Amino acid sequence: MKTARNLANVKLGTYYVVQMPTPDDFDFWRERARALVQCEVPPDRVAWVEPGGSGDLFAHGERRSPVPDPDAKPVRANRRFVSLARNAILHSDPERFALLYRLLWRLQANPRMMEDKADPDVRRVEELDKNVRRDSHKMHAFVRFRLVESEKDGETQEHYVAWFEPDHHIVRANAGFFMRRFSNMQWSILTPRGSLHWDGEIMREGPPAERSDAPQGDPMEDLWRSYYASIFNPARLKIGAMLKEMPKKYWKNMPEAALIPELVAGAQGREAKMVEKGALEFEERPETLAAIDKAIHGCRKCPIGQLDNHAVMGEGPQDAALMIVGEQPGDQEDQVGRPFVGPAGQLLDRHLEKAGIERKAAYVTNAVKHFKYVQRGKRRLHQSPGAKEIDTCRWWIESERAIVQPKLVLAMGASAARGMLGKTVSISKVRGAPIELDDGSELWVTAHPSYLLRLDGAAREEQARLFDADLAAVKERLEELAG
Ligand code: URA
Repeated sequence: MKTARNLANVKLGTYYVVQMPTPDDFDFWRERARALVQCEVPPDRVAWVEPGGSGDLFAHGERRSPVPDPDAKPVRANRRFVSLARNAILHSDPERFALLYRLLWRLQANPRMMEDKADPDVRRVEELDKNVRRDSHKMHAFVRFRLVESEKDGETQEHYVAWFEPDHHIVRANAGFFMRRFSNMQWSILTPRGSLHWDGEIMREGPPAERSDAPQGDPMEDLWRSYYASIFNPARLKIGAMLKEMPKKYWKNMPEAALIPELVAGAQGREAKMVEKGALEFEERPETLAAIDKAIHGCRKCPIGQLDNHAVMGEGPQDAALMIVGEQPGDQEDQVGRPFVGPAGQLLDRHLEKAGIERKAAYVTNAVKHFKYVQRGKRRLHQSPGAKEIDTCRWWIESERAIVQPKLVLAMGASAARGMLGKTVSISKVRGAPIELDDGSELWVTAHPSYLLRLDGAAREEQARLFDADLAAVKERLEELAG
């Protein structure tokens, strides 16, 4: 494989030193590794130095990368290697860069090497990948934000701050996850390996932080604590498994963890009480709308049910051909106890009338039965339900659908669509055409009227036009189905 031209670029016997700029820079590693492979520099002639590492041991090493010839052989790296390497490079093992280079070097002669499960290098990279994925999973599950309020220009600013201690260099790689999940909040995640700051528009990276930089408690914690106490099912208590999933190391960041010793201690008594009350699970579907109405008022299966609110039941004829599904009750619906009576409901009524759809003939309900909000002074501000909350509440909307058996369901907004389908869909992609449901009925998806309320000018007009078109299509289809 050695050509005279390639060797001309490499000083014989040279020892190359690659100083990594950051501990997780896969692209930098890849670029250097490619050049070294193309210049045929064997693994034992390269020292990979961690950022901050002095590389003193290699003081006489060559720090400039060799430059491959333009016609040097392309480097082979299959998809499996690249995907493992991208993750493994985030591991805190200082040997990871060298391991990856050795694998890349060996792949050139043996392109199927990654399939050899007994190979020690392959096994090691798989192990690093697994550890990193596990660490990311912990970060997703155990980051807990605490509210910090400050005054700016006479206005109260809200910022959520979390402290987390990852085992590996996973912070930057997980920025996208938190950005998507908490896009509407301003937040910071502080860690000893660097910090992330999201202002609602731009993500910034900051230096490593200390635990004392993060706040230690806020009122949200009471909510978490009572939620956790309510979902903590003593009948399922397996302490070993719990410690594996939620290692003690993370307990100090988690308000609910303060309850664990108490909950474990009280588990037996609580279990007996739960069995007595028959309250372990919702095992059987209620058979009447009245039974659902009663049961949702006692539902505490997600944190929304812990807030100071009331469940709002669907309303309309039990044999309605059309079921209209919204997201969740708003402030007014919560107070009145009926769906769609506030501003979004009034807008909906106007559009239904325009389309010739009689609201009274439809069964109108919500994907989530309780109002999710945050208290700001005297105001309760709407919060969108999370995917888990919607999925938990599917039990109820499915129970309603099983009783009403509508021919057509109109889901308004992404939460309603998820409530019907159990997965997230893009409204713009699915609107305007039916989706067949398990019982042969049809689901039609459109925007939520609150979305229209948030727009103005031309954008509002355009969305109102699309909304009207969806309702007109639903009306037409209902007439066909009534046949
Ligand atoms: N928004 C909804 O999704 N449902 C209501 O009941 C009211 C507002």
